[in-house]
Amino acid sequence: MKTITVSAPGKLLLIGDHAVVYNRPCLVTAVDQRMWVSVSVTAQQDLELKAKDLAISRYKKEIKALGTGDIPKGATFVEIAVKNYIEKFPFQGGVSVETTSEFSSTVGFGSSSAATVCVLKALSEATGNTLDNDSLFKLAYKTVLDIQGVGSGFDIAAAIYGGVLYFVGGGKVIEPLAVSTMPLIVGYSGKKGDTPTIVKAVAEKIKTNPGIYESIFDTSTACVEEGKKALLSGGFVRFGELMNIAEGLLAGLGVETLQLAAMNYAARNAGAYGAKLSGAGGGDCMIALVPYDRSNDIEKAITQAGGTVIPVKTNAQGVRVEA
Ligand code: PMV
Repeated sequence: MKTITVSAPGKLLLIGDHAVVYNRPCLVTAVDQRMWVSVSVTAQQDLELKAKDLAISRYKKEIKALGTGDIPKGATFVEIAVKNYIEKFPFQGGVSVETTSEFSSTVGFGSSSAATVCVLKALSEATGNTLDNDSLFKLAYKTVLDIQGVGSGFDIAAAIYGGVLYFVGGGKVIEPLAVSTMPLIVGYSGKKGDTPTIVKAVAEKIKTNPGIYESIFDTSTACVEEGKKALLSGGFVRFGELMNIAEGLLAGLGVETLQLAAMNYAARNAGAYGAKLSGAGGGDCMIALVPYDRSNDIEKAITQAGGTVIPVKTNAQGVRVEA
């Protein structure tokens, strides 16, 4: 029984949050904190899961029952990923999965997407159906939509391709950008944001004033297009300014919290080029793009504003087979 171990990076959304759900572009970077998944094909007709970071000490379910009945929250993405894989590439036997993560599932680095990508990649290696990145994206994105019903798939793309990507909602464009490491500071707000709930709340809001929200998304698109140029030419001052504009748009969508705003202002006042929330909002993290020589002051300011600094490096490698 051969065990395949795969890892995939977490991610941070740089600009384009929410608009990307509406077929607009975004810029996303993979970060160097990774999800690790080991998979083996077993003789029993069961899925067995150990995921200590998700409070799953031992979970077992018959393969033919996957996707039915109660599924503990921490097991959902692994279970539906295994179900979707077996439906597409049937094989005899069961699957044993163990996950460990270098980042907490509460910070919004995309643990569910990274785990989904790892499980599918490891299963494909274990059963000899090597999936190319495009097929892996489609199967992982289907898994996320089966569970959440909403989502652009940007986090799946970051887990697969790594690096910095220009991504259009649903994966219509996935373009790796030649960008070197960005001087980014990440501050956790102390509260987990519930992405599907927030995305659905924004969808409801749009119905009340579609034209105005459409123009918010148009401006977001302009920020992403300008931001792409700025990143490719190392224009961090310009990119920071675009981040600040993007935060204004997210405040307009109603997803900024007081805590995130306090951390953003603290970072800007301490010399950041720009600061904004990253992802759905309602909690999770903010990011600040900073001059290297101001990093310490900006980290201190974010901490004083009630945030917890999480050290990350951007531009991490995408999914890879480790053993
Ligand atoms: O909350 P996160 O980090 O999973 O990011 C969500 C980003 C959204 O644009 C709001 C949703 C999506 O799927 O793109």
